[in-house]
Amino acid sequence: MTRSQTIQKTSNMDSPLGEFDPSRLPAHIAIIMDGNGRWAKLKGLPRVEGHAQGMQTVRTIVEECSRIGIHQLTLFCFSSENWKRPQPELDFLMQLLECYLVQERPLLLEKNIRFSTIGRKEMLPSSVQHEIDETIRVCRDNTGMGLCLAINYGGRQEIVDAVQKIASLIKDGSISVNSIDESVISSSLNTNGMPDPDLLIRTAGEMRVSNFLLWQISYAEIWVTEKPWPDFDIATLHASLSDYSKRERRFGGLKS
Ligand code: IPE
Ligand code: IPE
Ligand code: MG
Repeated sequence: MTRSQTIQKTSNMDSPLGEFDPSRLPAHIAIIMDGNGRWAKLKGLPRVEGHAQGMQTVRTIVEECSRIGIHQLTLFCFSSENWKRPQPELDFLMQLLECYLVQERPLLLEKNIRFSTIGRKEMLPSSVQHEIDETIRVCRDNTGMGLCLAINYGGRQEIVDAVQKIASLIKDGSISVNSIDESVISSSLNTNGMPDPDLLIRTAGEMRVSNFLLWQISYAEIWVTEKPWPDFDIATLHASLSDYSKRERRFGGLKS
């Protein structure tokens, strides 16, 4: 397929919105995967069933993003504020993360997917930390799409950590106050080395960023769908890409 051809809808799509221009793909897609609990509630199921179903969606979307040539996909799995939830839900989420990492390693290897995480890992159960480290180890030579899972991640917390890092560099004389610029701050964040997200998707309709990638999304195109995460599918992803390809990104400049 040439760059100028349009990737055709896959069989489960019935809308022309499912077509997008592969020459205008976002390099980095970041997704706030919200609405698992509401999805379950609507079906009369316990909230955790929504999380389990959401894991299936993660698999589908990771595979599709890799297939169409996305450079980086960052998924918001668990925020630094999500510890406020009831303990049984937290236990389930931690177990699910562990299961996901173990189960998905073969797919990550098969698809040549690079793997990383952002967020404060040290507060996670040691079994989850272990599976994260193992997944990073197993995928270390991969060269394809980057998959980054934001786990116990908070944008403000990340900025606090970056400020502390920069302050200690100044204290030990490695850099001067005047040398602090945007690139010093960017490279002190967890996302060091990644391009900023071009497209920020949020599922389940909420019009907020909930402390996700606060510095990095300064010029991201925002796309919100009413669909809860367990119902987010390839057709919806393609619809977001189709809309994205029609956006005019001006970065403060004028219409080209
Ligand atoms: C997103 O779904 C998953 C996490 C935040 C861990 P929610 O659990 O927030 O689902 P809703 O928003 O309550 O429907
Ligand atoms: C954002 O969803 C965090 C994740 C998707 C992991 P929340 O459900 O925690 O966000 P709020 O509370 O509605 O802002
Ligand atoms: Mg939510």
